[in-house]
Amino acid sequence: MAQVPPPFPATRLRRLRRNPALRALVRETALTPADLIWPVFVCEGRAERAPIASMPGVARLSIDLLVEAVRDAAGLGIPAICLFPYTDPALKSDLCEEAWNPDNLSNRATRAIKDAVPQIAVMTDVALDPYNAAGHDGIVRDGTIVNDESVEALVRMALAQADAGADILGPSDMMDGRIGAIRTALEAAGHPDTAILSYAAKYASGFYGPFRDAVGASGALKGDKKTYQMDPANSDEALRLVARDLAEGADMVMVKPGMPYLDICRRVSDAFAVPTYAYQVSGEYAMLSAAFDNGWLARDTVMMESLLAFKRAGCDGILTYFAPDAARVLNG
Ligand code: PBG
Repeated sequence: MAQVPPPFPATRLRRLRRNPALRALVRETALTPADLIWPVFVCEGRAERAPIASMPGVARLSIDLLVEAVRDAAGLGIPAICLFPYTDPALKSDLCEEAWNPDNLSNRATRAIKDAVPQIAVMTDVALDPYNAAGHDGIVRDGTIVNDESVEALVRMALAQADAGADILGPSDMMDGRIGAIRTALEAAGHPDTAILSYAAKYASGFYGPFRDAVGASGALKGDKKTYQMDPANSDEALRLVARDLAEGADMVMVKPGMPYLDICRRVSDAFAVPTYAYQVSGEYAMLSAAFDNGWLARDTVMMESLLAFKRAGCDGILTYFAPDAARVLNG
């Protein structure tokens, strides 16, 4: 595959880097606003904007403000947003019933966005953690995160999100069998066209810390998520998970976190050639933003370089909190 070039001076690789025109001509990958999915946080209230300390520039927005932000994002050419609710602690319970309330915050936000900005795709999060008194993505019984009962709850949650008009469901819970169960239920309930972007290779990562602050799950979480999220030491297992989720009816797959897992992105995209996304998670955003705010790294340059890396690694798109800023840079 990799051809050995004839020896110097027949080969001078700098010839094609000599000026911007030549560099543009031989550039292998490109990033466009259409590659970006923007994760957003929604909270109750009106005209409410609650900044998240560990994610400078990111805030939870009440539905009215969120709709306007999403309208702006659509104007920038961003094709999709991904919705995460900040749930009132009083609504959290052991069985997570609020997760499938047709009028919960997430479902009301989906309806409001699809009503006001129908051209943007709304992706929702299928996992119990915002609604769980124990902070876990599945139901906890006697200290164990139980799989099959959690899948039943996730199916109810997914159906409520599809009813609310979500275009893409994002199961981020890592229970076994949930993609097949959700796909079967969607077919039976008259939602054959709702897409599933499976968080297929999701690692038990320390990089999710700021997100858990943003959705108010940090305080509730007891223990860690290592019995359901992947071991950061594993790579072959990611391929098994992607194969499994595709066989169960996922339309798209995700690798998460992003930058520390570019090797997984490359393996997944080489092995399956299906729509593959990476999630540049909250900790990556926090880390880069801290360096930008200290003047230690050049903001636009490094932001764009960090996103282009995912395209180079074979991803079709990126979930990133930088989406509006990156789209603004790309649009000049
Ligand atoms: C939970 C969920 C998490 C993220 C997305 N969905 C956190 C977790 O698994 O604990 C993380 C996103 C981020 O860090 O930006 N279902």
